[in-house]
Amino acid sequence: METVVSGIRPTGNLHLGNYFGAVKSFVQMQNEYNCYFFIADWHSLTTHPKPGNIIQSARTILAEYLACGLDPEKATIYVQSDVKEVLELYLFLNMNAYLGELERTTSFKDKARQQPDNVNAGLLTYPTLMAADIIIHKAVKVPVGKDQEQNMEMARKFARRFNNIYGLEFFPEPASFSFSEKALKVPGLDGSGKMGKSDGNCIYLYEDAKSIRKKVMKAVTDAGPTAANSEKPEVIQNLFTFLDIVSTKDTYDYFNEKWNDCSIRYGDLKKQLAEDIVTFNEPIRERIEEYMNNTELLDKIARQGAEKARESATKTIQEVREIIGFHR
Ligand code: ADP
Ligand code: TRP
Repeated sequence: METVVSGIRPTGNLHLGNYFGAVKSFVQMQNEYNCYFFIADWHSLTTHPKPGNIIQSARTILAEYLACGLDPEKATIYVQSDVKEVLELYLFLNMNAYLGELERTTSFKDKARQQPDNVNAGLLTYPTLMAADIIIHKAVKVPVGKDQEQNMEMARKFARRFNNIYGLEFFPEPASFSFSEKALKVPGLDGSGKMGKSDGNCIYLYEDAKSIRKKVMKAVTDAGPTAANSEKPEVIQNLFTFLDIVSTKDTYDYFNEKWNDCSIRYGDLKKQLAEDIVTFNEPIRERIEEYMNNTELLDKIARQGAEKARESATKTIQEVREIIGFHR
């Protein structure tokens, strides 16, 4: 069976972008692949050096993973920092990662601009740690959103380079993966192209109905269509993308027709959209609460996941040590 790996940093609650860009694929993939889904707590230190309560943040993501339908009986679910073997592979990969290529990474340049007082080595080597996360289990598929493409290219490059340097086909090259092409990028409701925690334009899975309605009703729109069947400007297209993701096809078609014949009322569209998001979120939100109240269960699931992940990681790292020459 093919192996799949993915992770999300515990820097806040999961939002609809995380769900439709990544977690929805996790839930589907666990039925067909040998899956490892983790919480990237080490990675979060690259931007949050002094996290408030890192254990609790990891528990939150774990509760959200489970509430979305990840099943510890099907997938190995663990916390990155519980599998120290990853660090050794990170070190080996760093020895063959070059300063120039790491500095040229867009996400590094972006982060360096956003936090000029903290351009740390972890930020620079973010892609090697991510590659280690993936290839430690010899994964071939990685469900992530479009924004991770460059990190994925680096992961492939590091896997290939390892094979070339040591002269064997050891690590497979991991490919990005998504079930539904159209849901790869969830837009923001503030008129921006992408929903993201750092952009402050998120609807969280844990968000309550009142707050969701408020956010959706405030979504940016324009003065309305002026000609029949005209192309939608980005802010309006974003609302339709949302309808496409969370509403029924009938709802989508209804408002699309209204757009096309210029009778659309954005207020009606937003009201419907808000209700559809609430309907989508509510059961997930309830389950998140249940899991959050059961710390014992969460910790047990994390412990069992770590054990399984360590088993797979240990096997790989022992082989890697031998390949490089660290064996007696
Ligand atoms: P954020 O942008 O909120 O910080 P992360 O960078 O932690 O989110 O992303 C975690 C996962 O969710 C990644 O696989 C990423 O590609 C995906 N993701 C995040 N935002 C979106 C979005 N708006 N659309 C699609 N996928 C997304
Ligand atoms: N870089 C990913 C993000 O920001 C998180 C991540 C870390 C990851 N390691 C990974 C994703 C390995 C997939 C596989 O969302």
